[in-house]
Amino acid sequence: MKDKLESIKKAFQEDLVSCDTAERIEEIRVKYLGRKGAIADITKNLSSVPNEEKSAIGKAVNVLKNKISETLEEKQKAFTSSTKKKDRIDVTFEGIRRNIGSIHPLTITLERINEIFMHLGFRIAEGPEVETEFNNFEALNIPLDHPSRDAFDTFYLGKNMLLRSHTSTVQIRIMKKKKPPIQAIMPGRVYRPDASDAAHSFMFHQVEGLMVDKDIKFSDLKGILNIFAKQMFGEDVKLRFRPSFFPFTEPSAEVDLSCIICGGKGCSVCSGSGWLEILGAGMVNPKVFKKVGYDPEKYSGFAFGMGVERIAMLKYGISDIRLFFENDVRFLKQF
Ligand code: DAH
Repeated sequence: MKDKLESIKKAFQEDLVSCDTAERIEEIRVKYLGRKGAIADITKNLSSVPNEEKSAIGKAVNVLKNKISETLEEKQKAFTSSTKKKDRIDVTFEGIRRNIGSIHPLTITLERINEIFMHLGFRIAEGPEVETEFNNFEALNIPLDHPSRDAFDTFYLGKNMLLRSHTSTVQIRIMKKKKPPIQAIMPGRVYRPDASDAAHSFMFHQVEGLMVDKDIKFSDLKGILNIFAKQMFGEDVKLRFRPSFFPFTEPSAEVDLSCIICGGKGCSVCSGSGWLEILGAGMVNPKVFKKVGYDPEKYSGFAFGMGVERIAMLKYGISDIRLFFENDVRFLKQF
């Protein structure tokens, strides 16, 4: 009897190897657990076993019966879950669309600005965001008691160091390092003590421009900025130079772009004036040249500074500067 049990066990193990379809599982179940199966057969013959062995053999038969039934159940479960997974493949179903990032509108704008000026012979220079008070103010002819310093006084980092409030600092760095001719643009982040609203941010980006050589004139500045405006906003735009004041340029101008929405007729975007302010500019103040050791009698130059956010807002018709920094993909993926 014991031998018979062993051989059933062995045969079942062998059968299991080929137990890989629903029909085969059922076939094996009938073969061992069915009414005329191997277990039923051996149970029937239990009466011929001597009394003293009966209970031991009976138990062994039960153990084997349970083992076979559990194994087959597991097989059945594994088989149904794998076929369910297979069933789930629907070839007509749309695939999983990965979220692909896009280039940030400020980066697109900055790259375009860089490209235009590089074609005009400007090189790109960069400076640190943590600056000395001297480079941010004194060297640019903004003394300690100058009223224009208020709007610029930013985040101080200990004594005489601060987060720069404009990229004009890089002008100073370049001129201290190198003799003319200089023709460079200087993009980067700047910081202001401004509460944030639709038009203000405590951090934004600027591009500074500087050209210094013998005999650089205001007309060179106008020519360069006109080419920039037309390449950035289209051939039809015009620029207007309004007299203004910056401590580091003399004379200074604020430069307006003919309104790209109404073409200069006057609309809500340009508040009816037909013009949109886009940058500040001027001829480098001789006092600045003296600070960096240039001879103002020998050299002249122009400088300008523009806000990248402002340019991007005009170019794309964006009405709130905060949108650039909120990281909302619904906004970002439009570019
Ligand atoms: N630094 C000025 C600002 O942040 C912008 C500027 C105006 C830069 C005139 C210049 C310039 O180089 O000539 O508001």
